[in-house]
Amino acid sequence: MTQDSDVNQGEREYWAGDGPRQYDEHGDRWEAMMAPFGTAVFDAVALQPGERVLDVGCGWGATTVEAAERVAPDGTVDGIDISMQMLAHARQHIAGLTNVTLLEADAQIHRFEQEAYDAVISRFAAMLFDDPPAAFANLRRALKPGGRLAFVCWRHPLETEWLAVALAAVVPLIGRQPDLGQPDTPGPFAFADGDRARRMVAAGGFSEVTLEPVVRPQRVAGDSADAAEFVLSLPESRQLLEGEPESVRAAVSGALVEAFLPYSGPRGVVMDASAWLVTAHR
Ligand SMILES: C[S@@+](CC[C@H](N)C(=O)[O-])C[C@H]1O[C@@H](n2cnc3c(N)ncnc32)[C@H](O)[C@@H]1O
Repeated sequence: MTQDSDVNQGEREYWAGDGPRQYDEHGDRWEAMMAPFGTAVFDAVALQPGERVLDVGCGWGATTVEAAERVAPDGTVDGIDISMQMLAHARQHIAGLTNVTLLEADAQIHRFEQEAYDAVISRFAAMLFDDPPAAFANLRRALKPGGRLAFVCWRHPLETEWLAVALAAVVPLIGRQPDLGQPDTPGPFAFADGDRARRMVAAGGFSEVTLEPVVRPQRVAGDSADAAEFVLSLPESRQLLEGEPESVRAAVSGALVEAFLPYSGPRGVVMDASAWLVTAHR
């Protein structure tokens, strides 16, 4: 692990603190919300038994486990993640699987075995690199000639219904936007501009780069109070409300509960989210 390197320093810090804390508090919720997008990746990459797969930014390891099941019995999966804390959860999730290896390393610079993998997959991690062309070039070298890349990354926050509703409820009360990152800096919305995602993957040397919007329903919460509590637990919300008096916090919480009410039904608060599915070949 290149802990002494300053590559991806911001993400490394986030995924040693606020990131894993979100998963400690809301891991099952996040997993349920992201699962439909993992399915989009698996549909696109069409893994076959016997293949060797790399799962980039594997986090909790849900996609690592699914990939391992799809390539079994002879195929193998390596899950790579920069965060020791996230990998601790992954270790529990892969327990009993004999065809998975977890690597604590930075996928942008890790010296992978060259031409080793049939497929590289990633669910919501490929937009977190601080040098995307270098990272994609590194991943490309790890693929066999003809190998496939498939990943999902978020579109603009306003394309995801629960975020748009939360922003519309909170911003007028606070008078400023939360910090959701800049389009060209690593973060959840770094590839919100799909053309940028396409350019970055092509700059890494990949061919046949395709980009497709994927809209899927997400179960955000059990009811509107739970949805409000979840939104307020996000690091971006905590930062936005820092120093605000209790009266403002209570008003924000009330506005969120009210805003999510119309989306609350027998299956909970279910709202559409929007990602890009990016595929390419070496
Ligand atoms: C949003 S989480 C997604 C986790 C997992 N793919 C999932 O769908 O549940 C992003 C993950 O990428 C990891 N990550 C961020 N930058 C990375 C890098 N340069 N190399 C490897 N992993 C990275 C984080 O530690 C985190 O676990």
